[in-house]
Amino acid sequence: MIERTLSIVKPDAVAKGHLGAILSRFEKEGLKIVAAKMTWLSRPKAKEFYAVHKERPFFNSLVEFMVSGPILVSVLEGENAIKKNRELMGATNPANADPGTIRKDFAENVERNAVHGSDAPETAAIEIAHFFSGLEMSNYKRV
Ligand code: CMP
Repeated sequence: MIERTLSIVKPDAVAKGHLGAILSRFEKEGLKIVAAKMTWLSRPKAKEFYAVHKERPFFNSLVEFMVSGPILVSVLEGENAIKKNRELMGATNPANADPGTIRKDFAENVERNAVHGSDAPETAAIEIAHFFSGLEMSNYKRV
């Protein structure tokens, strides 16, 4: 099934100049970038985005990290895009991530873990709507 998923390249990976390398992995694996922008989250917006984690002990630290620098948000489209993106990212904690995954190669630790990706179709739709309107998505043909 053709799906769309939200990807975030987090402040750690942007600051270290890994943006191009990470986007390149999506493209090489057939995920089409149909929308993309750099943005710098406000605290309210970061809290809203990660609201499902608000009771977790790491919530405040996660929010501070996410507002510490710009992020690159994009919408990736393709066959099983949600699962495919999660496979490319690897485990949340880079210490547990498989070799060749984005987090193994670029993440520092379980918080500063380089990328975020939606985990299910329902969350993908909600997360995409946080950042993009339908008009901001481009429907082009990958050749
Ligand atoms: P992400 O996939 O964006 O979803 C929630 C984020 O919370 C996660 O990546 C990490 O950045 C962060 N996170 C998850 N677990 C922990 C943890 N145990 N300690 C600190 N941060 C965490």
